[in-house]
Amino acid sequence: LRVLVLHGPNLNLLGTREPSLYGMADLAAINQALRRLATQEGIGLECRQSNVEGELVTWIQEARGRFDGIVINPAAYTHTSVAIRDAIAAVQVPTVEVHLSNIHQREEFRRHSYIAGVAVGQIAGFGPGSYLLGLRGLLDHLNGLNG
Ligand code: DQA
Repeated sequence: LRVLVLHGPNLNLLGTREPSLYGMADLAAINQALRRLATQEGIGLECRQSNVEGELVTWIQEARGRFDGIVINPAAYTHTSVAIRDAIAAVQVPTVEVHLSNIHQREEFRRHSYIAGVAVGQIAGFGPGSYLLGLRGLLDHLNGLNG
């Protein structure tokens, strides 16, 4: 299996960005933890980050036929992007939405996700662990273990 991990805008600043909300781990550390899990599970993994909505849309489009699943932290685009939602719906590549923080516990505008309606599921609030839980959940989904 091959999984694409997508990080949205401002996640390149992790480690220095509002550490009380998003923790001390930087993106390289998160990707390293993901790669460790991928190796353990015997799957292929590619991690990408973009601050540009259209670039994320293009990568999702290109995932069809190349990746079996996507783990995405759409960051602020979670709450604004019909385009990312439509791309996920169009390619039909199983996608898990993850967030470092518990978006349901924060400002009202973070509670709504355009992505959740087209995702296999959403994991939020576990810091970098959200990505690892998301990847495990995606693999179980792909292996038919989620019922
Ligand atoms: C985030 C939550 C979003 O509301 C925010 O815009 C982010 C990060 C998270 O991982 O907790 O950039 O997706």
